[in-house]
Amino acid sequence: MQGTKVVRPFPFFRAGARASQPQLSKPILVLEDVYKFFRPDQPTLRGVDLSVERGEFAFITGPSGAGKSTLLKLVYRELRVDEGRVLFCGRDIARLTDKSIPFLRRNLGIVFQDFRIIDHWTVFENVAVALEIVSMPQRLIRSRVAEALERVGLAGRGPEQTSNLSGGEKQRVAVARAIVPEPALILADEPTGNLDPHLAIDILTLFEEINSTGTTVLFATHDHSLISKRDHRLISIDEGRVSEAQQGLKHWQGSSGIHTLVG
Ligand SMILES: Nc1ncnc2c1ncn2[C@@H]1O[C@H](COP(=O)(O)OP(=O)(O)O)[C@@H](O)[C@H]1O
Ligand SMILES: [Mg+2]
Repeated sequence: MQGTKVVRPFPFFRAGARASQPQLSKPILVLEDVYKFFRPDQPTLRGVDLSVERGEFAFITGPSGAGKSTLLKLVYRELRVDEGRVLFCGRDIARLTDKSIPFLRRNLGIVFQDFRIIDHWTVFENVAVALEIVSMPQRLIRSRVAEALERVGLAGRGPEQTSNLSGGEKQRVAVARAIVPEPALILADEPTGNLDPHLAIDILTLFEEINSTGTTVLFATHDHSLISKRDHRLISIDEGRVSEAQQGLKHWQGSSGIHTLVG
């Protein structure tokens, strides 16, 4: 039928469960010798190498201004690398045409510190918007949104006005919006930064539950009290370079930098 063009993502970018076998065995995200300059004399990222396997949960940490958001922005192509490569599902993000960026974004769930939901929309509308990039029957949208809301602990709350929700609930709506297209990778940029400590733990736990169903999660935070409660892989950015603890802070043998960081 002419007129209603169904937009489909490239097979490359289909969510984890639907990826082909060779794709599943490869890292979902690879950064190779990545440089990003905002000032010519001072790279924010200098020669970052990083590999993230499918199904991993990793914290990205480092002091304010270290480059955590910059790294994530390179992955969702808000920014382009100046040197090096960013491979998502084996595909070089820097080489994507602008037309292909929506396909990339559909396979990434992004959650921000400030929620970025529309206050005068209902909870349902805020989540459903993530499915409107693809032509999907309304009935299917309704069931997918209901399922996502259930996963974030907001079952049956779809008709509510978002402005009436608490901060923690608003972030749950944002998480539902991020997961509803079933992305292969979730990028969370300080998602607990605006929340009280107990709510921060709840939201962290929510991301862990999502991860336990196979979705890869990169969780950027400078909140050491949160990081120290868990044993996830820890990717630390310091002076533009990445250093790592494979099993969280407790096992960290690395540079003195992170000890200062942990305090
Ligand atoms: N668009 C931009 N223009 C100029 N400088 C930027 C821009 N975005 C980030 N920076 C700089 O890059 C550094 C890293 O920023 P950012 O990635 O936001 O750090 P973090 O998220 O770890 O706090 C900071 O020094 C910041 O000022
Ligand atoms: Mg940041």
